[in-house]
Amino acid sequence: MTVKHLFESMDYGPAPEAAGDALAWITDQGARFGHLIDGAFAAPGQTFETRNPATGEVLAEITQGTPEDVTAAVAAARRAQPKWDKLGGKGRARFLYALARLVQKHSRLLAVLETMDSGKPIREARDIDIPLVARHFYHHAGMAQLMEAELPGRTALGVCGQVIPWNFPLLMLAWKVAPALAMGNTVVLKPAEWTPLTALCFADLCQQAGLPKGVVNIVTGDSATGAAVVAAEVDKVAFTGSTDVGRKIREATAGRGIALTLELGGKSPYIVFEDADLDSAVEGLVDAIWFNGGQVCCAGSRLLVQEGVAETFHNRLRARMDKLRVGDPLDKSIDVGAIVDPVQKERIAALVDASGGWVYRAACEVPAGCYYPPTLIAGLSPADPLMQEEIFGPVLVSSTFRTPDEAVQMANNTRYGLAASVWSENINTALDVAPKLVAGVVWVNGSNMFDAAAPFGGVRESGFGREGGWEGLSAYTKPAGKRGAMAKPVAPFDGAEAEPQPVDRTAKLYIGGKQARPDGGYAQNIYDKRGKLIGQAPIANRKDVRNAVEAARGASGWAGASAHNRAQVLYYIGENLAARAEEFAAGIDRLTGGKGGKAEVAACVDRFFTYAGWADKFDGRVAQAPIRGLAVALREPCGVIGALCPDEMPLLGLVSLVAPAIALGNRVVAVASEPFPLAATDFTSVLETSDVPGGVVNILTGPQVDLAPVLAAHLDVDAVWSFSPRVDAAKVERASAGNLKRTWIQTTARDWQGAAGEGRAFLEAATEVKTVWVPYGA
Ligand code: NAI
Repeated sequence: MTVKHLFESMDYGPAPEAAGDALAWITDQGARFGHLIDGAFAAPGQTFETRNPATGEVLAEITQGTPEDVTAAVAAARRAQPKWDKLGGKGRARFLYALARLVQKHSRLLAVLETMDSGKPIREARDIDIPLVARHFYHHAGMAQLMEAELPGRTALGVCGQVIPWNFPLLMLAWKVAPALAMGNTVVLKPAEWTPLTALCFADLCQQAGLPKGVVNIVTGDSATGAAVVAAEVDKVAFTGSTDVGRKIREATAGRGIALTLELGGKSPYIVFEDADLDSAVEGLVDAIWFNGGQVCCAGSRLLVQEGVAETFHNRLRARMDKLRVGDPLDKSIDVGAIVDPVQKERIAALVDASGGWVYRAACEVPAGCYYPPTLIAGLSPADPLMQEEIFGPVLVSSTFRTPDEAVQMANNTRYGLAASVWSENINTALDVAPKLVAGVVWVNGSNMFDAAAPFGGVRESGFGREGGWEGLSAYTKPAGKRGAMAKPVAPFDGAEAEPQPVDRTAKLYIGGKQARPDGGYAQNIYDKRGKLIGQAPIANRKDVRNAVEAARGASGWAGASAHNRAQVLYYIGENLAARAEEFAAGIDRLTGGKGGKAEVAACVDRFFTYAGWADKFDGRVAQAPIRGLAVALREPCGVIGALCPDEMPLLGLVSLVAPAIALGNRVVAVASEPFPLAATDFTSVLETSDVPGGVVNILTGPQVDLAPVLAAHLDVDAVWSFSPRVDAAKVERASAGNLKRTWIQTTARDWQGAAGEGRAFLEAATEVKTVWVPYGA
């Protein structure tokens, strides 16, 4: 008998992992769990069951957290925070290291528990989830150790409320808890209702590690408990889950002045070019869409394959699908486990059954119960709901393209922007396409690679904020020191309307590089301190906002201009402003009735030089991931930024926002200082003579209270910055939920005047991190 014969004829023999230890741990805990609050497990309250989706068996009773439970947990976290912070990074590092070691020591228990509670194959829990959890705690033990030296001037936010999903229960916990603790925060975490067990086991590990009480609190329960965590008096909310819930959380946190990061859904493209290594691309696709049964936010769920190889690729893919082994998740040879819950299976089935495409279900054996066959659907129109919506199951949709341009266009035809894969043996094709994909993570000839050192997160409706690496830490720290007082709105000077005054000029809006009359045709008188009319400023309305945004969208070439070229333009603006410094200084003094015009103009010139300096230097880093390849964390412009300028220092307020934004390739729609708008309209003449392409900077004047919500709700605006004391942060943040745009609301004078008014905070707000994984080395 030959080996070949053996391979072909041998029956499959199951190789199940033993569940005994995990079941014993559950029994030891009484199989009824209360919350971890203030360092101890509370008595169970009203409970619900958590089941093993593969067998339907009840694993344990879990407490449904009430708002009172959440309040108690937040209070415990609040009490614990100052001491935890004072322990210093080096003190905290020891605890994070201890947690990493304990996760490693108990990795088998954790992996089995995870598999039993979620239905994911043990191979994945054992080889991917749990090792990454340990890696995350190790990496962040290092971050804590280095914090004082490497992040001077940064401090903890306070208490973080964290809500996580069921697809990577312990890994998502690690992504949230490790950086928070490292930076001196305390946490209240709510695991998903279907998969609470590993979080509770982690609670046990926290006790074993001797973590001070109240530093980690775990409250179990459903969406109502999650909503209570979001509503509680926390300093930050971190959420991973569906885009719909993310939107609700954006609305619920609007105007509260707390930090927020959202890691939401995706419909990530998986692009196969005809010069790809097709067999590798098929294997990569197995990883992309059948990893965790497709229940992965960044699953490569949209296959785009080049027409010339589509038939071959589909044939090989179907053959591979037929060989996938679906079944008992505890079996070490299983490729696709159980769906997390029957509800989710029904949801997947309903979506596929309603599909109008050609459906191919893998010919492999699929056991009865909570399982769903690997499925391929082709022949759908790009607008089909299955092409646009997350299915969150082992279902791949496929379409073909002809040219790289078409591939990019199809890949980006989605409201999401979490991840993308590009497959080509031609380095030119792969590295030409990668930068054009609108996604927070791009894998070249790979998929689903993660690491604690590599930032992960999305753009567009996939959310905002990053997890992992130095970039992820900024979501868990803030500048140290007291913040300045809230700036108060400055009243414009009054004038006697009746008294005829010689009109200096009537300013216009500046849209698409041209002076534009306001749509409504109205303007307002602007007076000096003595009540003399200086001029008139146009009153922009929502139509003007739309025109300005359209012009800004149209100027997308600016993002592609080289950083060197953008720097030249910024230097040129600075130079032209310097040449007219006296005139501008006098204008500002007359407008504001002050004497600071000269210094203000000098500061503006300086800002342009600073950001010209930064334009080609804020460029990202290479992350040291412990797998073959490089994770390159690049800084990309956000896109179109709506900027609401402060009242005071009308030119410096504008320049402080516009200069960093355009230096890094964004386009701006700025709404000028409301009491002193003519400083901005005067400034347009400098822009006109400084080679700034039309549409890169657009300037509106008028009532900020009316214009801000329009900008915040506009689906073609990617970020809104408000430094205006007039703008209602709650309104802006609530309106921003539509396309989940990033918001940056600052209302203290300190944030933009003086040294605090320039630098990294602005550059970070002006960019998104895009992590590109490229093969490198042996
Ligand atoms: P979900 O977004 O409803 O749940 C995620 C977490 O948020 C859970 O802990 C849940 O209890 C909590 N939650 C739910 N409503 C909340 C609220 N109003 N306020 C605060 N917390 C709340 O996701 P679900 O229902 O489990 O899955 C539905 C769909 O969401 C999936 O089919 C999938 O498309 C998507 N999803 C995406 C994930 C991702 O990683 N991007 C993860 C899980 C689900």
